[in-house]
Amino acid sequence: MCSSVAPFLRDIEAELDRIRQVGLYRTTRTFDSPQGNVLRWQGVEKLNFCSNDYLGLANHPALRLAVNHALDHYGLGSGASQLVCGRSSAHVSLENALAEFTKRDKVLLFSTGYQANLSVATALGPGRRGYILGDRLNHASLIDAAVLSRSRVLRYRHANEHALEELLVRHGEKQKLVLTDSVFSMDGDIAPLEGIATVCRRHAAMLVVDDAHGFAVLGATGRGALEGPGLSQADVPVMVGTFGKALGGFGAFVAGPEPVIDLLIQKARPFIYTTALPAIICAAVEAALVLVQKEYWRREKLFDLIRYFRTSAAEISLPIGASETPIQPLIIGDASKASELSDRLFAEGILVTAIRPPTVPRGTSRLRITFSATHTLDQVDRLLAGLLRHRVYWEK
Ligand SMILES: Cc1ncc(COP(=O)(O)O)c(C=O)c1O
Repeated sequence: MCSSVAPFLRDIEAELDRIRQVGLYRTTRTFDSPQGNVLRWQGVEKLNFCSNDYLGLANHPALRLAVNHALDHYGLGSGASQLVCGRSSAHVSLENALAEFTKRDKVLLFSTGYQANLSVATALGPGRRGYILGDRLNHASLIDAAVLSRSRVLRYRHANEHALEELLVRHGEKQKLVLTDSVFSMDGDIAPLEGIATVCRRHAAMLVVDDAHGFAVLGATGRGALEGPGLSQADVPVMVGTFGKALGGFGAFVAGPEPVIDLLIQKARPFIYTTALPAIICAAVEAALVLVQKEYWRREKLFDLIRYFRTSAAEISLPIGASETPIQPLIIGDASKASELSDRLFAEGILVTAIRPPTVPRGTSRLRITFSATHTLDQVDRLLAGLLRHRVYWEK
């Protein structure tokens, strides 16, 4: 080992030790099955209650077929960024389908949701001329995006449009962009979107809603968290959606008025300087969008399961959060205890990864339980029985 590297490695080891000592060390697990309600790990099946594949589409035959067809036509790699030569007719077709489904003027595809959020904050944000305001519990990608945008960053009390309004009033005439998750990724609760949209309109702030966990799940027709309250493009000018969750794929989109999309194309560095999504992904996501519009039973079954879980959880006094979405957090508090509970369940065949700081605030480590339309009642019962066996971790 070159001796000049040794001091760096010593520092890195010390940092790793520190992370281990506070119970926040992270490891990856490798599975050898497709995504689904059961995953195979080292030849053993584990019931999966932590994926974002809410509609059970990640391994759906229609998506596999779409990929195979597109593979024959386009091959694998997209070759370059969309602006160079990476954009195919599969990209255009998906953008058009999404624009129609979301009832927005235009859509632009991004390689990940993280990059979509980074693009929105950096290209549409005010920079040094103003403020970006975000919910305290926004997803990390929105928080990072605000910081990297060079705007002044302000965070308002969680899911509280009045707190947002106070900040908007205090910072008066400056340009303002407001960022919020629709469904909060670690808590499953839904932002007061109507109130936030009204406040933004009143104070001439541009509103961006990241609907990563609502899109294709919420709303009478699966159009997402904006559908229920009937929020149009005039109310929420910028909507972000991702493909890696309910749509069972990978990638993301931004939907909004034409000038917004045009400015993203001109200025969004995570769009300009990244290889385009492969066409096979676009084809698969478009197939998923068809299923979202055809197979209503997936959302109905998903919400039946959620209701069943919540009713059964109440019967055993399981202290889950107030969420009505597929994300059902069981707050344990201490990070090491949350990991221990997760490990015990895993040993018994149930996979629910522990979520710890900095993903969630200190003292709120949790099991983030999620449901998919492909779960069965029997599987939910097995989860509940597992949690009951380990009640010592959550009983107050
Ligand atoms: C609310 C939210 N926004 C954005 C992202 C990032 O999306 P992606 O995984 O496509 O980068 C995620 C999750 O990963 C998320 O939960």
